[in-house]
Amino acid sequence: MSNDDWKRQAAEQALTYVEDGMKLGLGTGSTAAKFVELLGAKVKAGLKVVCVPTSEATRAQAAALGIPLTTLDETPALDLTVDGADEVDEELRLIKGGGGALLREKIVAVASDRVVIIADNSKLVETLGRFPLPLEVVPFGLAATEQLIIKLAADTGCEGEVKLRKGTDGKPFVTDNGNHILDCAFDAIEDPEALDDSLKLVPGLVETGLFLGIADVGIIAGPKGVEVLSGIEIDFEEDE
Ligand code: A5P
Repeated sequence: MSNDDWKRQAAEQALTYVEDGMKLGLGTGSTAAKFVELLGAKVKAGLKVVCVPTSEATRAQAAALGIPLTTLDETPALDLTVDGADEVDEELRLIKGGGGALLREKIVAVASDRVVIIADNSKLVETLGRFPLPLEVVPFGLAATEQLIIKLAADTGCEGEVKLRKGTDGKPFVTDNGNHILDCAFDAIEDPEALDDSLKLVPGLVETGLFLGIADVGIIAGPKGVEVLSGIEIDFEEDE
């Protein structure tokens, strides 16, 4: 079995969380694409769902499969989002944004009651940071933004190359929101919460690829089978 088979297994397992009538968030990337493909087959067989895609690529895939689509403006609260990740630690903290969709992914995830992350076991790590952390930044003032990111990250013990992501045409990669991505090779992020808090002070930074306290369930498939990790679910209503 290959990574691709494991991604499919995780996607299959995620389908068991989907119920008729649900409002769903659809993730981005090769693993999420497998879930969308399987969901498309269920919709064809009669499942009733309405979905918000996290990228234009996912929108195109879902539309081609006949999956009913909506927006967060029409449907601001979702039941469930299923998405992939670039790294997952045992506390279900994530690095996302390898596909450049981190901002919409985070908006959609936070608008969802439940977030299920699907991945093959190569994504499971002890410490986040081996995968360069993507940061979505506005094009204006990029050099100043980059300098401040480097300084504030260093204050939390994170140092490494910060690189402007390029597209296949060699030009700066442009996200679905018209922004750029800085990939930060920090290697090991010992305190992801401190780094995230610190980076959020940078005015030109729109969002980080750190997803902390967002995922509720992680479905990780590998040679030993499918493992389901459960995070702590926060019931916001109880705090009122
Ligand atoms: C997209 O921006 C990312 O957050 C993806 O979820 C992540 O890169 C995982 O992609 P794969 O499933 O292709 O590894």
